[in-house]
Amino acid sequence: MTDTTRLSADAWDELHFPRPAETDFDRVVERALSRRGFLRGVLAVGSAAAAMGVLSPRALLAATASRFPFTPIDAQTDFAVHVPEGYKVQVLVRWGDALFSDAAGYDLAEGGAVAGSDRVFGENTDGMELFSFRGHQLIAINHEYTNNDINLPAAQEGVPANAEDVLKLQNLQGVSVFEVAEGENGWSVVIDSPFNRRIHHNTPMRLSGPAAGHALLQTAADPAGTMCLGTMNNCGAGKTPWGTYLTCEENFNGYFGANGELPTDELLAAGYTRYGISAEGWGYDYHKWDARFDVAANPHEVHRQGWIVEIDPTDPESMPVKRTALGRFKHENAAVVVARDGRVVVYLGDDERGEFLYKFVSNGVYTPGGDTSALLDDGMLYAAKFHDDGRGEWLALTPEATGMDAAEILIFSRMAASRVGATTMDRPEWVAVNPVAIEAYCALTNNTRRGTRPNAGGDETPVGGPNPRAENQYGQIVRWYPADEDHAALAFDWDLFVMAGNPEVHADAYAGSANVTAGNMFNSPDGMMFDGTGLLWIQTDGDDSNEGDFAGQGNNQMLAGDPATGEIARFLTGPNGSEVTGLCWSADRRTMFVGIQHPGGSWPDGAGLPRSSVIAVTREDGALVG
Ligand code: FEO
Ligand code: CA
Ligand code: CA
Repeated sequence: MTDTTRLSADAWDELHFPRPAETDFDRVVERALSRRGFLRGVLAVGSAAAAMGVLSPRALLAATASRFPFTPIDAQTDFAVHVPEGYKVQVLVRWGDALFSDAAGYDLAEGGAVAGSDRVFGENTDGMELFSFRGHQLIAINHEYTNNDINLPAAQEGVPANAEDVLKLQNLQGVSVFEVAEGENGWSVVIDSPFNRRIHHNTPMRLSGPAAGHALLQTAADPAGTMCLGTMNNCGAGKTPWGTYLTCEENFNGYFGANGELPTDELLAAGYTRYGISAEGWGYDYHKWDARFDVAANPHEVHRQGWIVEIDPTDPESMPVKRTALGRFKHENAAVVVARDGRVVVYLGDDERGEFLYKFVSNGVYTPGGDTSALLDDGMLYAAKFHDDGRGEWLALTPEATGMDAAEILIFSRMAASRVGATTMDRPEWVAVNPVAIEAYCALTNNTRRGTRPNAGGDETPVGGPNPRAENQYGQIVRWYPADEDHAALAFDWDLFVMAGNPEVHADAYAGSANVTAGNMFNSPDGMMFDGTGLLWIQTDGDDSNEGDFAGQGNNQMLAGDPATGEIARFLTGPNGSEVTGLCWSADRRTMFVGIQHPGGSWPDGAGLPRSSVIAVTREDGALVG
């Protein structure tokens, strides 16, 4: 049996994706695309690539002085974190570390206790943001999932045995908010800060926006359909201009199961299929011990997950709000930017093979100091259509265009986007918006079934446009330039910023684009954030076997990309087994906080269990790091 306990949540989702048997076509479908042909598309539109007419991309890179304030590092395969010379790393907080003194000494041995599990830093850190508030620095951060084999007594082999086991797992996921401070010995968590807070799978929250109160959101426990419990599988994140945190519910389907058959009502059943709800679940077994997660008994509870949740990190008493106007799907992150006229634009990826890229545009405008309490409740949701000629458009998900009512469009956004013919993508992960240019980027992490497998709604996934390779084990980053330099515009031009690959193993399209070399290669881009200078930081969640197609790529890593030149350089490598995910900066931008999820070995302690952690990366000379 495959040991799946160290798979990322995304990998779990892939594993459980219903797929028919492999065909001969799957094995032979390597398109004969010349690498040179790809390069014309890569770096060809907009920004500095205007020079493409006279310079090849590689010559362009060579002719440009590097903007990177570091010497790139080599790929690594060990169980340590590596950064460039002149930089240093400190562990800020680990899974199981107390955020409150009443949980001091929380012991992870034999899976840890239930008592205190909602007072410690949860497992498997992911998206995060830092907030400066009245002289305090607050980090809000996600805990995406649990490795059940190490959160439960070893003899149970990852299977909950009772309601207490389930409650503990529920407590160790969700979101942490905590204050950090820098002292003589570096950064530390301010234990018992009044801002510290744990939000988990049972925290009360409010549903707002057009779908709130809809019959599909009503349950026996909440007949009004406006209040729910918990946020789950919190993946990437976002930050609003008004200082709130957006946490993004991704593979929520995995927590649900059914004691008996799934309901067969036509609309419900279609939704379960499209969103991956199964009677078996993923092995969390919540449904056996907590009736809320039994889809047979509570057919609508699944509709109350899969949203973007807004949290005020400055007020630990505030109730998180699920913003239904931003749609329901497997949300990766939420990249917020203000359009030219002040409307709020939120870019949103749906991370599953063949699903879509979305954006929300508010009807109201943001004014600093103004009322922002309902800005994310009223607006239009769009899905992206990419044309092969480098143009694209945002398709409005309206009742007229979809044949669905306004609430159904939000609850079943995937179906609405299918109906308007949005472009099926190679698993949209994080979107990042360049703060110094009107452009945005989305990591398309990989899709080894491009062209051969429809998505869960039956939409075909043809090779082409921003998804140009069939057996795409490496991934790519697509970039778009909104028309009229306005993020609210409905048209855009696009190109590929990079196509990951392995030029040591392949000579065709799978070698990657010209800005991929033996010295910087990687696979499966996932997390992405811009720093204040306009450098794009790219984090990976891919194959770290360092073998075969991935030979020479080493462990998962974080690289910096220069949007102007296409240059990419490796900055950090994670311990073997881990993915690198989540990034934010201290208020003075002299520290970069980086998340290390599901590490292998005994990282970071060198003995005992591996512990997902946040590290602080600084320069030895104290200079800015972003
Ligand atoms: Fe949780 Fe798609 O990464
Ligand atoms: Ca991922
Ligand atoms: Ca991710």
